[in-house]
Amino acid sequence: MTTYEVNGQAEEASATRQRSFPAGFLWGSSTAAFQIEGATTEDGRTDSIWDTFSRTPGRVLNGDTGDPAVDHYHRMPQDVKLMSDLGFKAYRFSVAWPRVRPDGGAVNEAGLDFYRRLVDELLAHDITPWLTLYHWDLPQTLEDRGGWAERSTAYRFAEYADSVHAALGDRVEHWTTLNEPYCTSLLGYSAGVHAPGRQEPSAAVAAVHHLLLGHGLAVSAIRDRDPKAQLGITLNLYPVDAVNPADPADVDAARRVDGLQNRIFLDPLLRGRYPDDVVADLAPFALAERIHDGDMATIAAPLDMLGVNYYTHFLVGAGTASAETSAPHTPAGSPWVGAGELRFADAGLPVTDMGWEVIPDGLTRVLRRLHEEYAVGTIYVNENGAACPDVINDAGEIDDQDRIEYLDGHLRAALAAIESGVDLRGYFCWSLLDNFEWAWGYSKRFGLVHVDYQTQVRTPKNSAKWLSSVMRENAVPL
Ligand code: NOJ
Repeated sequence: MTTYEVNGQAEEASATRQRSFPAGFLWGSSTAAFQIEGATTEDGRTDSIWDTFSRTPGRVLNGDTGDPAVDHYHRMPQDVKLMSDLGFKAYRFSVAWPRVRPDGGAVNEAGLDFYRRLVDELLAHDITPWLTLYHWDLPQTLEDRGGWAERSTAYRFAEYADSVHAALGDRVEHWTTLNEPYCTSLLGYSAGVHAPGRQEPSAAVAAVHHLLLGHGLAVSAIRDRDPKAQLGITLNLYPVDAVNPADPADVDAARRVDGLQNRIFLDPLLRGRYPDDVVADLAPFALAERIHDGDMATIAAPLDMLGVNYYTHFLVGAGTASAETSAPHTPAGSPWVGAGELRFADAGLPVTDMGWEVIPDGLTRVLRRLHEEYAVGTIYVNENGAACPDVINDAGEIDDQDRIEYLDGHLRAALAAIESGVDLRGYFCWSLLDNFEWAWGYSKRFGLVHVDYQTQVRTPKNSAKWLSSVMRENAVPL
């Protein structure tokens, strides 16, 4: 037991002293439709690009597909009870476009019904629904017409958003248009490591603009229906540093990657224009030519909140790309349209099971940048978490101390940002359950709750119990 002098008064402190989050800080967990629902042909749902992609040999590890995933479509009430038992106050989920508008066409009430039941169940358990409209499952029919490389897809997205709001707007207050448009555009249309698996740089650049336009059109459609709706978008943001900050070529490489990873989305959304250097880098791929009159004003419509997904950082130098990198998703194809020759380096930090370096301080940096450079107000961490090589011990427990350490470090980093003036209002852990990790299939486990893929049995890991206590106390232990 240690004695501290605080404001002249002796205060006893022990190992149980804590660092508190602001009152009302929102604690949630995150998932996405394709990663958990399964039931890909039920109640009128048609294929999404991820159904097609995952059925294509060689695209997803072990040939894994979205069926049955973790069968959440049929186990939803139990999963909501699990969230409630663990003490989550909010749940970030996504709606599957091909359930609600199969083939991207007419509204399918049977598809909407699942989300009506989900929202009712959440509200009955006092859990705030946090709805994402697009977490990567574009109806395949729309991809067949050109996908996000086509301007018309932005308009189809706004119609879809409008129909989801018409069904759920009376009970859902918090709306996110897109999740990580970087992945949809650059990983899906340039690197080809995500659906639809195209390696067409110009299409990827077009997709960036059409995703942002779709976001803006959806915001406008929902605002028209409900001025009280809380609207946002979720971006995966990373600190990008030069391998050698004294080498101008490395500094320029970091600028180019920061441009494509962060600023190409932040600037249009928050400043109403693409950064000049990014437009110049992308000149061969015709970014400027995609912009029609009025687009930038539509894209920059004011938002109520910004969602940040944070996992790791990039360390970049000039030179030739190397396969040995911890940077997310960089091997296979290259997403770095117009960024020239790049070399990614490791900083020698511990890595998660994804090979991503663990750097909690990067979260503080990302949040402070939004506050200082972009004057962003309300922010939520909409995803943060770690894939770990979980094992079930003889006692039937998953003692994932590595994940606990990851979460603990990042929550402290979030607190540091709050203390420096960032208006961070909540934290959603990725993910509630182990699930389909895109091109990695079921091989990477991000869940707080373990899923036995043979039996679908759910077992909270020790990290879930640890986070429960953090959420209950609204504080991390000192
Ligand atoms: C980003 C994505 O939004 C989510 O779908 C994915 O599973 C996690 N991060 C982990 O890679």
